[in-house]
Amino acid sequence: MDLLAKINNRRALVGIIGLGYVGLPLVLRFCEVGFPVLGFDTDARKVDLLNRGESYIKHIPAARLAELRQPGGGQGRFSATSDLGRLGEPEVLIICVPTPLTRMREPDLRYVENTARQIAATLRPGQLVSLESTTYPGTTAELLLPILSATLRVGQDFYLVFSPEREDPGNTRFQVRTIPKVVGGITPACLEHGVALYSQVIDRVIPVSSTQAAELSKLLENTYRAVNIALVNELKMLCLRMGVDIFEVIEASKTKPFGFQAFYPGPGLGGHCIPIDPFYLTWKARQYDFSTRFIELAGEINSNMPYFVVQRVMEILSKHGKALSGASILVLGIAYKKDVDDDRESPSLKIIDLLRQRGAKVDYNDPHIPRYIGGRHYPGLEMTSIPLTAETLKEADLVLLVTDHSAYDYHWIAAEAKLIVDTRNAFKGQSGEHIFVA
Ligand SMILES: NC(=O)c1ccc[n+]([C@@H]2O[C@H](COP(=O)([O-])OP(=O)(O)OC[C@H]3O[C@@H](n4cnc5c(N)ncnc54)[C@H](O)[C@@H]3O)[C@@H](O)[C@H]2O)c1
Repeated sequence: MDLLAKINNRRALVGIIGLGYVGLPLVLRFCEVGFPVLGFDTDARKVDLLNRGESYIKHIPAARLAELRQPGGGQGRFSATSDLGRLGEPEVLIICVPTPLTRMREPDLRYVENTARQIAATLRPGQLVSLESTTYPGTTAELLLPILSATLRVGQDFYLVFSPEREDPGNTRFQVRTIPKVVGGITPACLEHGVALYSQVIDRVIPVSSTQAAELSKLLENTYRAVNIALVNELKMLCLRMGVDIFEVIEASKTKPFGFQAFYPGPGLGGHCIPIDPFYLTWKARQYDFSTRFIELAGEINSNMPYFVVQRVMEILSKHGKALSGASILVLGIAYKKDVDDDRESPSLKIIDLLRQRGAKVDYNDPHIPRYIGGRHYPGLEMTSIPLTAETLKEADLVLLVTDHSAYDYHWIAAEAKLIVDTRNAFKGQSGEHIFVA
């Protein structure tokens, strides 16, 4: 049976490399429609948990993983391994490994490149490789293809596509199946195989003419968000000076039925995508002697937001007769966004770091992140979430709301806290001389 037939009959073994926020939901979806799936991750702890039917991502219930460990019931079988020597087994290999930035804010393609080399070691005729990690235009054709095509011919022996992931963790309105998926292939045959694969699991697949177009489409989506968030962040700072409520303004503008999409200001960008991806494009543009000025400006405004919040906190404390140095501050929320358990690039961490540098005593509460340990950017920062009680709220000189989790009871917090600085409009509609926007 050839590869297309195996895909169409859902007999192809699907290998998913990188079982994180992107890879794991894909595992579930492929299994759901009956494909057998072999998951690969270099993190042996994750592999062990998955093979025991346990989950390490809050919005992926362990029960769903446990079900997949039991064959039958119309679902595909799933197992996980950290043995990358088995990459030759699956017919399909989907790469979902991280694509961070280096310290110098340049693309760090170490994980993608290592994965490509590991695939190349066992690549055989009849395999389809799809890169889903967000990256600059050219990665699939310029980095992956030369590594993979050392001994085999692309489009004949094996197939190579790029198909960007559009996962939005915590968003319950969309599932993997209902989020349309863009696919670009190195050759027409590659594209045909890629479209065949994703059509099995996704309602709408959009083929584009090249892997570069698919790569750039993802960066356009995330740059669009970064630039528009920067715009409202700048307007928020202006509105505060003017004494106008930016959130009221946005709600009013939102009533326009065409030509406007609402974006909301906040404490700064967070997460694995929006603060990082636009810089992949900036870096690539430099090779073409081109400067992406919108991206640079948006980056400047957005990365200044934690400094702006800290400045506001300092001014508000000072108006109430307190210096920031020595003040006790309770930060609510260190996840990078509402209702998730992911603290990557979270603006809370930058804000906590800045507050501490200025002599404040900082505690945090986050119902989804019980403990924070250092990390690459803040190696010395180790904290445990303190309980949110009337006492802890009262004891703080100022409560700083950074992440607007649904679990918080905002009326109760407003009643107990002395001073509140709200970066998300979470206390909207509540009057009180002690609540301030930042
Ligand atoms: N998280 C999101 O919401 C989101 C959305 C769209 C796109 N993306 C993109 O998807 C990619 C993955 O992001 P994520 O959030 O799932 O990351 P993640 O850190 O949650 O997961 C990546 C996994 O890959 C594993 N890994 C690293 N190197 C490996 C290797 N050589 N072989 C096998 N496994 C390896 C890690 O152990 C980790 O479990 C990134 O490019 C990201 O930009 C993420």
